[in-house]
Amino acid sequence: MLKTRITELFGIDRPIVQGGLMWIAKAELASAVANAGGIGFMTALSFSDPEALRAEIHKCRKMTDKPFGVNLTFLPALRIIDYPAFIDVCIEEGIKFIETAGRNPEPYMDQLKSADIKVVHKCTSVRHAIKAEKIGCDVVSIDGFEAAGHPGEDDVTSLILIPRTRDAINIPIIASGGFADGRGLVGALGLGADGMNMGTRFVATKEAPVHDNVKQVLIRHDERDTRLIMRTLRNTERVLHSKNVDKVLEIESKGNTQIEDIVPFVTGLEGKKMLEEGDLKKGVLAVGQSVGLIHDIPTCQKLLDRIMEEAEEIITSKFA
Ligand SMILES: Cc1cc2nc3c(=O)[nH]c(=O)nc-3n(C[C@H](O)[C@H](O)[C@H](O)COP(=O)(O)O)c2cc1C
Repeated sequence: MLKTRITELFGIDRPIVQGGLMWIAKAELASAVANAGGIGFMTALSFSDPEALRAEIHKCRKMTDKPFGVNLTFLPALRIIDYPAFIDVCIEEGIKFIETAGRNPEPYMDQLKSADIKVVHKCTSVRHAIKAEKIGCDVVSIDGFEAAGHPGEDDVTSLILIPRTRDAINIPIIASGGFADGRGLVGALGLGADGMNMGTRFVATKEAPVHDNVKQVLIRHDERDTRLIMRTLRNTERVLHSKNVDKVLEIESKGNTQIEDIVPFVTGLEGKKMLEEGDLKKGVLAVGQSVGLIHDIPTCQKLLDRIMEEAEEIITSKFA
């Protein structure tokens, strides 16, 4: 059993977090992570409106009596999103933990703190971590360059980013980006984090509500198979290499790219179809370099058991 500031804060047994996963982090996955001793964050924007999120919170409560949270991602989006209304639903439903990402959560801090919600801000640079601590966030989740989704524009890997963040702030830190097993967990703790977040690894679990083709494709690819798109828009996204990704990169290489030029390839609705129908020719799939560490599709229970056994074995054999 590894007790850290993260396990204490969330009231969980294992310092393992499932962060926001667009269209994927729903009740099935968040409850499975919770039942396995970690904490899962359901991604609010996976739901069409705040009432749909409310229904999913109810569903998740039926599937676990352990703590879980909600992720709020602030990124450029094609639809208008009423964030305060999503937060109101979280407050009304007694959600105690919210993971924010994409942009500074400051505009919403008063609303969140009035309900005594613990805020985990996921960011990609030391300066943003310092800012998060300053505005009253309770935890920083720091995404290294390896990460799936939006790893920021600074290209600093977890190996440097975590200890740099540890030196700069006092609140607990969750290491994110590149973590998928017990070795990663020990590494994260050694670098100064209080726990680790996994994204890509959780997509390849039995409970992730995505088509089996998507899970299998993660097993077939390795750490060399991701690409960075939308760099020219300063909204960099790490995704699995595919024909669509090559098309986006070709458009971007011509210069002066506007979001409209690439929307047909990157729109979330195409990505949603891919996840549901398993047709990997549709959209793009956020994937981190940790894909190289994925070789099976376990249940969340089996995955977290294995991670903890591996971590404890390393700690006792190497440091005893
Ligand atoms: C398919 C997928 C979708 C994601 N969607 C979101 C999201 O909506 N919001 C968010 O904050 N992070 C999102 N992420 C990022 C993860 O929460 C996490 O920070 C990242 O995956 C960590 O890197 P890893 O993949 O190496 O574990 C997504 C990741 C993946 C793989």
